[in-house]
Amino acid sequence: MLNQEIERRRTFAIVAHPDAGKTSLTEKFLLFGGQIQVAGAVKSHKIRKTATSDWMDIEKQRGISVTTSVMEFDYRDYKINILDTPGHQDFAEDTYRTLTAVDSVIIVIDAAKGVETQTLKLMEVCRMRKTPVIIFVNKMDREGKDPFDLLDELEEQLLIFVRPLTWPIESGPRFKGVYNIYGDSLNLFQPSKQVVTERVAVDIHSDDLDKHIGKPLAQKLRSDLELIDGVYPAFDVNEYLKGDLAPVFFGSALNNFGVQELLDCFVEIAPSPRAMKAEERVVQPEELKFTGFIFKITANIDPNHRSCIAFCKVCSGKFVRNAPYYHVRSKKTMRFSSPAQFMAQRKQTVDEAWAGDIVGLPDNGTFKIGDTLTEGEELHFKGLPSFSPLMFKYIENADPMKQKQLGKGIDQLMDEGVAQLFVNQFNGRKLIGTVGQLQFEVIQYRLENEYGAKCRWEPVSLYKACWIESDDAEELDSFKKRKYQFMAKDREGRDVFLADSNYVLQMAQNDFKHVKFHFSSEF
Ligand code: G4P
Repeated sequence: MLNQEIERRRTFAIVAHPDAGKTSLTEKFLLFGGQIQVAGAVKSHKIRKTATSDWMDIEKQRGISVTTSVMEFDYRDYKINILDTPGHQDFAEDTYRTLTAVDSVIIVIDAAKGVETQTLKLMEVCRMRKTPVIIFVNKMDREGKDPFDLLDELEEQLLIFVRPLTWPIESGPRFKGVYNIYGDSLNLFQPSKQVVTERVAVDIHSDDLDKHIGKPLAQKLRSDLELIDGVYPAFDVNEYLKGDLAPVFFGSALNNFGVQELLDCFVEIAPSPRAMKAEERVVQPEELKFTGFIFKITANIDPNHRSCIAFCKVCSGKFVRNAPYYHVRSKKTMRFSSPAQFMAQRKQTVDEAWAGDIVGLPDNGTFKIGDTLTEGEELHFKGLPSFSPLMFKYIENADPMKQKQLGKGIDQLMDEGVAQLFVNQFNGRKLIGTVGQLQFEVIQYRLENEYGAKCRWEPVSLYKACWIESDDAEELDSFKKRKYQFMAKDREGRDVFLADSNYVLQMAQNDFKHVKFHFSSEF
């Protein structure tokens, strides 16, 4: 029973550069899963750039993301868990952390834009973790790049081998459909948001194909497919599972086209829950005892009810409501009387959950990102890296009467993973590091609204935070002495060098050959 339940689970995230079509694709998946009946039911909770002055709006939008954080549905014999990631780039850290809780990823690419900045970063995280990746090239109903050029671009920029499993017949206004290489069938395009188009099985070498798409296009398709077979090795599912090869699908999420091909192949080839590394040992999903870790904590949107939801990925065994579980960091036993699971936009209490599932645990500030829950074992799951922030500011107290509140607020927000905190070892000042400006604004707003504390930001020009290490203790020590004004500790007490420019960093790397500089906290 345990094995069967785990085998049929597919826990993944759809990620994309903003506007590539993640929301549209998610919605179509939910349509196939019967979770929603009409397209347009899932609200995009993108935080638009223009909304930066409207705090409540941001909070509300973050609120919406609470209920769409995990979307579950059954499709064929599979149980699917889609983990949602924030649409706004400034919350990219959230996305990176969510990627630690998935077993595979679908990356959406805009056919006209190709690989964009955020895609590169997301792929980097997938590569670090060897996460299997499927690529969906979206918006084929619009004029886009040549598909062969796109495949080259994907390989070169994402540093992964690719293998098309469907192939587009033209694009833009001439878009005729996709040929399903994986399923050997032809899917003719009808622009429609809701109709699932008929697929026809055709022998591509017969006249049948000519009848469907006309002679010239039929010939082009045949020669394209020949070229694909010549250039790309046959699809090997193991290469995909190892994270070395990404199958590529083409379609239009908005028009629900090419999406079912993707979903059908996805459920068949995507991995069921994978083994997870803990500091002590590797945990297999089919182990009988429950283990899990917290990868996300939602903002408490209502200041009157200081209650968040901590999202726990079940890594092994079965989670049972009201059973006693061990919170490793605090060494306390806890019981959860109302764990929640999420169905599209609904939330409901669950009695049990299996490895691969996500359960939402009501939290009053007990949990911290990365916390492990077990049936008693001392276990610490690994793999929640912090990346060097892109922006830094000193945070200062703006209300002397509220020093305590400020400290508490900062601590809790950092536990939630809203941003990163570094303490400068030279002057003891607190530095907040973020991916984007919006995070500073959210922190300031939340400190005021939830903790009654006021903060002030002081600019500081820094290039990168580098986690440092060395086998040569003496050299490490002399480096720290030389750079004492730029040395900080992260929240785990690790040494971080705050480089104020690329030049300074390069000089440091030259002068201290035995010191290693890492741009993420896991190396
Ligand atoms: P995101 O979550 O990745 O940010 O993207 P989202 O699905 O919200 O899509 C971004 C925009 O691209 C939306 O337009 C959406 O309608 C459009 N889009 C998505 N898939 C396709 C597609 O296959 N073809 C075409 N032509 N457009 C597509 P918008 O104008 O920003 O929003 P809306 O007014 O349509 O909701």
